[in-house]
Amino acid sequence: MHNIVLAHRILVSLFLLQYLVKLVLLLAGKKDQLASYTKSTRIIEMLVSVGFLVTGIYLLIYTEITTLMIVKIICVFAAIPLAVIGFKKGNKALAVLSVVLILAAYGLAEADKKHRGDIKVDTTSAKDNLDAGKIVYQNAHCIGCHGADGKLAMSGAKDLSITTLTIDEQKAIIRNGKSPMPGYKDLTDEQLNDLVQYIGGFRK
Ligand code: HEC
Repeated sequence: MHNIVLAHRILVSLFLLQYLVKLVLLLAGKKDQLASYTKSTRIIEMLVSVGFLVTGIYLLIYTEITTLMIVKIICVFAAIPLAVIGFKKGNKALAVLSVVLILAAYGLAEADKKHRGDIKVDTTSAKDNLDAGKIVYQNAHCIGCHGADGKLAMSGAKDLSITTLTIDEQKAIIRNGKSPMPGYKDLTDEQLNDLVQYIGGFRK
């Protein structure tokens, strides 16, 4: 899973780079160079596009979908026809718009990642510490990767029912994250204690 994420990022970067080069050529009025560049990179571009779509779809299926992710996908799918028409017809405005959309999608993905762990959970209604831990576990999207019983191991996540980490080590990972797991800075210390106690229950 880590490898798929990495492959996706590399392919997206290559795709973006490819279109930035084309855009520069188009804006500079270098029609002939643009045509020969497009022709000589046609196969690479096809492989990169297919690769980035396939890895993207794979990640979509196997990770939790957020609103930002949906916006990102809309940007990408709006950019594709604009890019095709813009570069083919030499329409600078459409070409610029398509690259801006791809850039926006790229930026959104980064922003999304940074803020994924920014989750505040209200545990005032909890019956006891274990219940509070369960509420945090469910509301902080731990389930998306670790599953309701801690065993899911999605996105390369560790099986929490067989963890060999100490309580403090677990707390450190939850607080600081460990890619691709986000760090959860907004949980209170008490919630973190409850959460780790709740996770400990998976080990039985
Ligand atoms: C985006 C997916 C994702 C989410 C959401 C997520 N985790 Fe993780 N978690 C992982 C991954 C991946 C690892 C393994 C990191 C590594 O060691 O490389 C991990 C590791 C851990 C570990 C360390 C286990 C070990 O034995 O090394 C703990 C504890 C843990 N997660 C708890 C949580 C809790 C609690 C939450 C919710 C507050 C949570 N995780 C949310 C993906 C996720």
